[in-house]
Amino acid sequence: MGKVIAICNPKGGTAKTSTAVNLACAFTTINKKVLLVDFDPQRSASVALGYEYADVEHNIATCIFDNVPIDKCITPYLKGGFDVVLSSDDLVALPTELKERVNPHLALYDTLKPIVDKYDYIIIDTPATLNFITQCALCACDYLLITVSCDLFAIDSMYALIDKYASIKIEGLAHCNLVGIIRTLYDKDQPLSKAISFELEQSFKELLFKTCISYNQKISESSSAACPILIYDRTSTASIEYLSLCGEFIKKIRKLAN
Ligand SMILES: Nc1ncnc2c1ncn2[C@@H]1O[C@H](COP(=O)(O)OP(=O)(O)OP(=O)(O)O)[C@@H](O)[C@H]1O
Ligand SMILES: [Mg+2]
Repeated sequence: MGKVIAICNPKGGTAKTSTAVNLACAFTTINKKVLLVDFDPQRSASVALGYEYADVEHNIATCIFDNVPIDKCITPYLKGGFDVVLSSDDLVALPTELKERVNPHLALYDTLKPIVDKYDYIIIDTPATLNFITQCALCACDYLLITVSCDLFAIDSMYALIDKYASIKIEGLAHCNLVGIIRTLYDKDQPLSKAISFELEQSFKELLFKTCISYNQKISESSSAACPILIYDRTSTASIEYLSLCGEFIKKIRKLAN
């Protein structure tokens, strides 16, 4: 059974997209079959992999709005060895487009259902909001992974996300488990970064990944080169940290299943 992972934090710039593309790459290093779904109308994951809007005929918006079958929307990202469903800025109209639909929250869940078992992992990159788009992603996933950049606003927005996650679970709309919180953009030379990291350790214990993704200029360089760090420089510290996140993630979900 394929596992669907949503990567969320309603604050902008917490490395959701970087984590989504690099976790996808990391899974391929252990021969897993992976699909990355760009569910952000800003198209950050699509851009991060070097895709132009006109490169494909169909995307996640045409799939949901025009009932284009999901397999027609899948593009192989050959450099990375995984598949992608690209996004479109049209996705911003999701709430209005689904106004008449029964169970609109399940739009992405229903869309992915036919292909979920063709993959080991399906990773959903989400936008920097807690709006309906993110809620659809929460309802579509089995596992929620929260990225927290080591700054105060990212922690506030993480709590808002956890509240929303809890409330949609209570309403019976979502079935996902919070798999954990990954610290990103961690700077060991910044006292604030260290203090926040320590606070997260105290507050979240087992829920916090031991792996920390450090602040690393190479990640910005790889973004400018429209390439995941694991392809841009496989031996960099950042690549090693993303591989470590991948290993820890697999261990955590095994534990959750027992
Ligand atoms: N570990 C890191 N070290 C340095 N720069 C990083 C790191 N991780 C991400 N970045 C850079 O920070 C910026 C934001 O990262 P990213 O786009 O992954 O965040 P995001 O949470 O997806 O943002 P948004 O909320 O806008 O979708 C990008 O320019 C990216 O290259
Ligand atoms: Mg993003």
